[in-house]
Amino acid sequence: MACHLVTGGAGFIGSCYVLQARRRGVRVITLDKLTYAGNPDNLAALREDPDHVFVRGDIGNAELVACLLATYRPDAVVNFAAESHVDRSIVDPDAFVRTNVLGTASLLRVVKDWWQALPAAAAADFRFLHVSTDEVYGALQPEDPPFRETTPYSPNSPYSASKAASDHFVRAFHETYGLPVLLTNCSNNYGPRQFPEKLIPLVIGNALDRKPLPVYGQGTNIRDWLHVEDHCAAIARVLEDGRIGRAYNVGGRAERANVDVVRAVCALLDEMAPSAAGPYADLITFVADRPGHDFRYAIDCTRIERELGWKPAHDFASGLRETVRWYLDNGPWLERVRSGEYRWWMEANYRHRGAGGAA
Ligand code: NAD
Ligand code: TYD
Repeated sequence: MACHLVTGGAGFIGSCYVLQARRRGVRVITLDKLTYAGNPDNLAALREDPDHVFVRGDIGNAELVACLLATYRPDAVVNFAAESHVDRSIVDPDAFVRTNVLGTASLLRVVKDWWQALPAAAAADFRFLHVSTDEVYGALQPEDPPFRETTPYSPNSPYSASKAASDHFVRAFHETYGLPVLLTNCSNNYGPRQFPEKLIPLVIGNALDRKPLPVYGQGTNIRDWLHVEDHCAAIARVLEDGRIGRAYNVGGRAERANVDVVRAVCALLDEMAPSAAGPYADLITFVADRPGHDFRYAIDCTRIERELGWKPAHDFASGLRETVRWYLDNGPWLERVRSGEYRWWMEANYRHRGAGGAA
């Protein structure tokens, strides 16, 4: 039975990957620190599953990682663990350096030491897949072609700089030690179980509470939206047949301006959870912009489509409809993650933007 060590598997994308991997019959060891973004509820479906092991811990804990590798002998390490929110990286960049840069470098070193001692056949079959982002490529203007794997790195936020640094370490471990690495650089994910600091679930939660829906700047910034299930299917394909040492861009072919995404969420809520107080779009509030806000991201995913036959299965309209439905049907999930630390963050990030009520 194949076995994957999945770091950050209690987060939004990692938990989707873990659930998919278990459906494919892969044994999974989840290593997650359970930061504010990590949520054991995301893996509740696996509580009784003997082929899923959950370990609370830090990717930077070399002893723990060495012990997990020796005990479970995974055929792959899939690294999702990261601090993942741009706005938080502006408030506290150190946390991003600690996990995304130092944590990944430590994880790579421990995995490399273990991998070098494996018998030849097991060493040849092993893969280290690092999950990265399109944000490492910087910002596009409307007329620019989308990012390719050959686009030079030009990160603009502390978050994207920390992810770029980790990507460089991953490549360096391949070039220097021959570690069989793979990288994926994906666009903005959406879907069930996303922490509601990110645009789509934040807007859903605020709308249901009749709070302002904060849109940064003019709302004209563009993101390329990828359904989380499609992203995880792409990672599985890359692990299976990706060329060692290569990066694969993964995108949803769904570029949208932020304000259009927010309006689309409002229209779905008007239909599925109508409010006597009026249309949800009345709550849209333009607030102070994010410093250094990248204007546009767009992904050219020709490589993964041609080499590995992957394509996104969700179109944005139906994927977004399904996603809004999921949040409406999972009120207790949303309520639990919006208590505690979340309240502090909403106050810290929105009060000074002139959207006090957004918190
Ligand atoms: P998330 O914030 O929802 O989850 C991150 C998970 O990592 C959490 O469970 C957290 O507890 C865990 N974690 C954090 N620090 C850790 C540490 N030091 N050791 C062990 N676990 C730790 O993030 P996500 O949206 O699921 O993103 C997963 C990965 O995908 C990240 O590497 C992120 O950079 C990348 N990515 C995300 C998006 C997106 O749209 N969400 C887009 C591109 C790339
Ligand atoms: P986000 O979900 O934080 O992802 P990223 O910064 O990684 O792209 O934000 C998506 C877009 O939405 C981004 O252009 C910033 C914008 N945004 C808002 O307009 N308002 C908000 O409250 C948030 C969180 C994001």
